[in-house]
Amino acid sequence: MSQNLTVAVVGATGAVGREMLKTLHARQFPAASIRAFASARSAGSKVAYGDTELTVEELKEDIFDGIHLAIFSAGGATSSKFAPYAAHAGCVVVDNSAAWRMDDRCPLVVPEVNAHALEKHQGIIANPNCSTIQMLVVLKPLHDVAGIRRVIVSTYQAVSGTGQKGIEELERQVRDLFNGRDPENKTYPYRIAFNVLPHIDVFLENDYTKEEMKMVNETVKILEDPSVRVTATCARVPVFFCHAESVNIETEKKISAKEARILLSQAPGVKVIDNPRELLYPMPAYCIGDDPTYVGRIREDETIDNGLNMWIVADNVRKGAALNAVQIAEELIRRDLVRVTDKSVFM
Ligand code: A2P
Repeated sequence: MSQNLTVAVVGATGAVGREMLKTLHARQFPAASIRAFASARSAGSKVAYGDTELTVEELKEDIFDGIHLAIFSAGGATSSKFAPYAAHAGCVVVDNSAAWRMDDRCPLVVPEVNAHALEKHQGIIANPNCSTIQMLVVLKPLHDVAGIRRVIVSTYQAVSGTGQKGIEELERQVRDLFNGRDPENKTYPYRIAFNVLPHIDVFLENDYTKEEMKMVNETVKILEDPSVRVTATCARVPVFFCHAESVNIETEKKISAKEARILLSQAPGVKVIDNPRELLYPMPAYCIGDDPTYVGRIREDETIDNGLNMWIVADNVRKGAALNAVQIAEELIRRDLVRVTDKSVFM
């Protein structure tokens, strides 16, 4: 089957869409044909796929016939509207937006953590929030051994998490400031250049942001364990690529920092960089374009009996979005799950 697959990238002109095409090509994804879709604005323009170029087509309701697998990164509104048409046409969707993540019909998957959840898919699979993905790649092995009870996480998130417009806003504001001009805020409510915003996505009734509550709710769904309590503070920092996270966990059983380092150095998708004496720890500027999720600064929390602190960094456009989505697609092929059994579920 995989040799005959036609794969669509929806949102192909965006920051994540371009990275998806790059990742599909770099990993020699077994597709017979790759098609690129975006809005009517971009129809006819070109996007790179390896050494070749694909002509961007306009996304419409009726384009999914003959497409076996579609990877979406075109925002929640586009996914809400178009993913059901895809599933109805028998095309399996891997969606990078928040639109389907908490829908009981849709598995929410980090392949290193819960690939088994794919077995029950009904046509739409959700890719988790970037900050949740990198946190859980590291926390899952610790949860399996020590039982995580509570997580306190503070994030330092790059502007590429807001897409191309976030990248352009930071670039423009840095240029404006260096040229003595007042920077204009188009994408964020305040200046992001040389600033930190304790605010990502909209504020909710409980005074948390939607981004913070995504980390809380998605963690429980992915770990399939409502007993894990998460509290999050998400901040936007003037960094182009790679999110960093300060993570504190309290566990059921004691696990030493040394044991955690050994465990994590054997965990899939994780790379430990943790040697304070040599000043070795993960940092956004040195993780750009890399696949692994990096962890360092692992140390025992001296204020509680069973606690650890750590610092987690990953490329948000890559593992936090494009790579995780492509890994889901690869896992679907490996498990022979590129099919929609009941095409009426989402219509
Ligand atoms: P376009 O470039 O035509 O606007 P980013 O997250 O970097 O902002 O990228 C968003 C991606 O989603 C772009 O490829 C964008 O295409 C695409 N997109 C946005 N709205 C739609 C839509 N209504 N239909 C199809 N693609 C869309």
